[in-house]
Amino acid sequence: MRAVDIIMKKRGNPGNPGGSELSRQEIEFLVSGYVRGEIPEYQVSAWLMSVYFNGMSFEETGLLTDVMLKSGSVIDLSGIQGPFVDKHSTGGVGDKISLPLAPIVAACGVKVPMMSGRALGHTGGTLDKLESITGYRTALSTQDFRSYIEKTGFAMTGQTAEIVPADRLLYALRDVTGTVESVPLITASILSKKVAEGADALVFDVKCGSGAFMKTREDAEKLAKSLVGTGQAMGKRVVVLITNMNEPLGRMVGNFLEIEESMDILEGKGPADTTALTNAFAAWMIVMGGKAATFDEGLALCTHAVRSGKAMELFMENVRLQGGNPEQLRAERGVRRSPHHFTLTAAQDGWIDSIDAFTAGLAGVYLGVGRNRTDEAVCPEAGLILHKKRGERISAGEPIMDVFGKNSGCLDSARALLEKAVRYTDRKPEEETLIYAEITD
Ligand code: URA
Repeated sequence: MRAVDIIMKKRGNPGNPGGSELSRQEIEFLVSGYVRGEIPEYQVSAWLMSVYFNGMSFEETGLLTDVMLKSGSVIDLSGIQGPFVDKHSTGGVGDKISLPLAPIVAACGVKVPMMSGRALGHTGGTLDKLESITGYRTALSTQDFRSYIEKTGFAMTGQTAEIVPADRLLYALRDVTGTVESVPLITASILSKKVAEGADALVFDVKCGSGAFMKTREDAEKLAKSLVGTGQAMGKRVVVLITNMNEPLGRMVGNFLEIEESMDILEGKGPADTTALTNAFAAWMIVMGGKAATFDEGLALCTHAVRSGKAMELFMENVRLQGGNPEQLRAERGVRRSPHHFTLTAAQDGWIDSIDAFTAGLAGVYLGVGRNRTDEAVCPEAGLILHKKRGERISAGEPIMDVFGKNSGCLDSARALLEKAVRYTDRKPEEETLIYAEITD
């Protein structure tokens, strides 16, 4: 077998422009060969691009997911009292929901074994956000992952050389080769992680809109169906919420900034959109874990978990267990900011019509929230603090957002993008829907 033949088979030719389906052996040859270091990145990049353009059948997507899953070992949670339920987002801007969600759900008696990813394209990554907490470790051994779940009800890890190494490598490669927005590649990436971590039931946040990889309802529904179908075929119970990603979520975008906003949510003083979504996902997870009979009962439990302080206590205990220092985190809150910054002010009077999530996310990459190359480090202190969002009144010259960069050189490009991201209107715009659809089994 040769990699180039597999690439050409998927790529197709003028007589067969859509390419052909690959067999398990062919997918395994490429993916396992890449993980072993035998197939070079340039061939895997070409194959990813042919999948991006020609897609994969439902069967091929299942095979790719299985091959990626079996590239490493699966975490065994036996011996720990369940239920185990996890959530995963398909990627957004300012989407920090996983961070407050895990301790809230754990505080309600449902265990959360969470395996997440890094910044991808213009979207942020849970692992990069967590690692902005000085000392925090996200490459956990199976033993530590199990032990932290037993102690606090949740643990946060990433793909490692042992657990889904194929996703660790492919994820980083897709990030810098323009091959992220693909239903089969996203499905296999997410589900290989989610099956490897050992959860029984999964709740997916399929983001839809400018700041998502799926820009339209039609594409978001395709991804939702792929996640439900492949997830169920792998023996998982699955719920999907399709949610609005036209504007950054909350008021903070950036790695450490989003840790701060997550702490606000855990203290019951987070922004309305982010709090509402966190509660909706938490309620579903609590219902799927069997700790509440109805969604409303689930909501009441998570409100109590926040009000009682239990969720925040678990978050801080997790920070300590995974290598961070809770006292240092508290001291840095609200003051740890990059010295390279500017304030974007309003060009006119009126209302904010929108702050485009894609453009804001892209500005974030320029600022250092994400990467341009696989070997680049992100900047923990880079990002945006939004003072105004859609539907808020603004006067010319008033601050719209504070912008923080990794260095002074990146600020001009970010400013040009952010000026374009803000749209004004002379009439208060209607509120947008936050949750478009719920798909349950
Ligand atoms: N999240 C993932 O884990 N993988 C993707 O491809 C997109 C979002």
